[in-house]
Amino acid sequence: MDVGIFGAGHFGLSLAALFDRAGHTVHIAGRRPVQLSKTLAEQGLRHTRAESLDDVFDSSALLVGAVQWLDLAALAAQLPDLEGKIWIDPANPYTRAEDGSVSAVPTDGRPHSAIVADLVGRAQLVKAFNGFTTPMFRSGPLTSQGRIVAPIAGDHPAALCRVAELIKPTGFMPIIVGNLTDSVVLEPGGALRALSNPLIAP
Ligand SMILES: NC(=O)c1ccc[n+]([C@@H]2O[C@H](COP(=O)([O-])OP(=O)(O)OC[C@H]3O[C@@H](n4cnc5c(N)ncnc54)[C@H](OP(=O)(O)O)[C@@H]3O)[C@@H](O)[C@H]2O)c1
Repeated sequence: MDVGIFGAGHFGLSLAALFDRAGHTVHIAGRRPVQLSKTLAEQGLRHTRAESLDDVFDSSALLVGAVQWLDLAALAAQLPDLEGKIWIDPANPYTRAEDGSVSAVPTDGRPHSAIVADLVGRAQLVKAFNGFTTPMFRSGPLTSQGRIVAPIAGDHPAALCRVAELIKPTGFMPIIVGNLTDSVVLEPGGALRALSNPLIAP
């Protein structure tokens, strides 16, 4: 499958590596394209291409918003109408300062996915991967207790199935936990995140 990723930082590059090694074709846009092409070559990602924002947009119906929470609105504003696109949303409302310290961004009690849904307009939003960390991608889906679950949530069954198909070859186990309202269980402090992190299917 083709998948587009916006943002080539810690998480975008980790997702690119995950999808690339699973046999997908990855189109990724960052703000430093020359450096990004070098990084992709150094990491041996043979199915991943550094592209412009517009080319990534055109590359696939599956698009990942791998930019920081406070950059999402500006990213969405740079993109054409997202009708027909599936927006895979790993974002958590945090901001990272220059010194690396992380702080929460207030969300006024709104479900995080509802805020992102407002930004991406007519795209079909699927919450996914927000409970993952980059070391989890590196160490892979299998643990001594079982397979790591990739919970996903969204309002559009066909979009959820497409995202599940994207995830399956990575070895992580996609499980649909419900619609976007239900996706609060995936937020930091949410019921599923509190249960165990990562979730393991024995
Ligand atoms: N890191 C994790 O372990 C983790 C875990 C779960 C979820 N997430 C989520 O994943 C998202 C990304 O996190 P991160 O840790 O990867 O942040 P990051 O390392 O700061 O990477 C974000 C990247 O997005 C780029 N960017 C910002 N606006 C852009 C635009 N308009 N077009 C293209 N690129 C743009 C930034 O470029 P510049 O370098 O030029 O600013 C930066 O390279 C966040 O929403 C976060 O909540 C991260």
